[in-house]
Amino acid sequence: MDNAPEGVDPNVPNVARMYDYFLDGKDNFAADRAAAEQILQTFPHTKEGARANRAFLRRAVRHLVDQGVRQIVDLGAGLPTQGNTHEIAPEARVVYVDYDSVVCVHGRALLARRENVDFLQADVREPKALLDRLGTMIDFEQPVAFLMLAILHFIPDDEAYDVVTKLREASAPGSHLVISHAVDSTPDTTPQALEIYRRATAALNLRTREEVLRFFDGYELAEPGLTYPNGWRPEDPDAPGNGITFGYVGVGRKP
Ligand SMILES: C[S@@+](CC[C@H](N)C(=O)[O-])C[C@H]1O[C@@H](n2cnc3c(N)ncnc32)[C@H](O)[C@@H]1O
Repeated sequence: MDNAPEGVDPNVPNVARMYDYFLDGKDNFAADRAAAEQILQTFPHTKEGARANRAFLRRAVRHLVDQGVRQIVDLGAGLPTQGNTHEIAPEARVVYVDYDSVVCVHGRALLARRENVDFLQADVREPKALLDRLGTMIDFEQPVAFLMLAILHFIPDDEAYDVVTKLREASAPGSHLVISHAVDSTPDTTPQALEIYRRATAALNLRTREEVLRFFDGYELAEPGLTYPNGWRPEDPDAPGNGITFGYVGVGRKP
């Protein structure tokens, strides 16, 4: 991107645009690229991790459709990329949500062009307001799937668990929660990564496996449980790069 829209400071690294850079996207500024390059020096597998995360999203969304889910809310949707949720599940009503204004401008222009697709600018840390607004788009008497991919690690503990609980309480039986979450895999270099994100638009809150598992309280975890992205029902279990450890992923169903 060459010019920043009004109200957007291109000098502050932005977590959505850094992620876009990891996915080889073009919607990023020099400050985003510089911060992302610093992360790549610390965690050289970040690009593969981001791709593995998107591949997990595709497999998880297909699983949701197979389970009969026809309403999907993609929280922290990020900048449009290849394989967006509504393209994987054209039969579903899809609502994308993100709090970032650049993400929303691009999302509305590129994603929300079909009758059953919407893009909502909202902060997930305000679950009551979010649920109120979703109420005009989603039938909460029917199963709904909340996707929370690579977003919860941008939300501190005191808000993250409460948000997930409120979403579960609002959901009908048969609803689903899909999570991917970065973990503290290389303690030696983690402080440098935390520092880079502290200077960005959202700080990182890395969690342990047990802490990520807690988000699924009240859900039944689909096989194979909480795993690395490439370990979740891989299309080709022998594909190269299957050891990449961006973090943990899982799919839960509300009984
Ligand atoms: C790393 S991107 C992940 C994009 C996509 N979910 C994926 O996994 O491919 C994280 C996204 O979460 C959004 N985000 C972070 N905190 C948020 C919040 N409190 N409310 C809404 N969106 C948020 C960011 O703007 C960004 O677009």
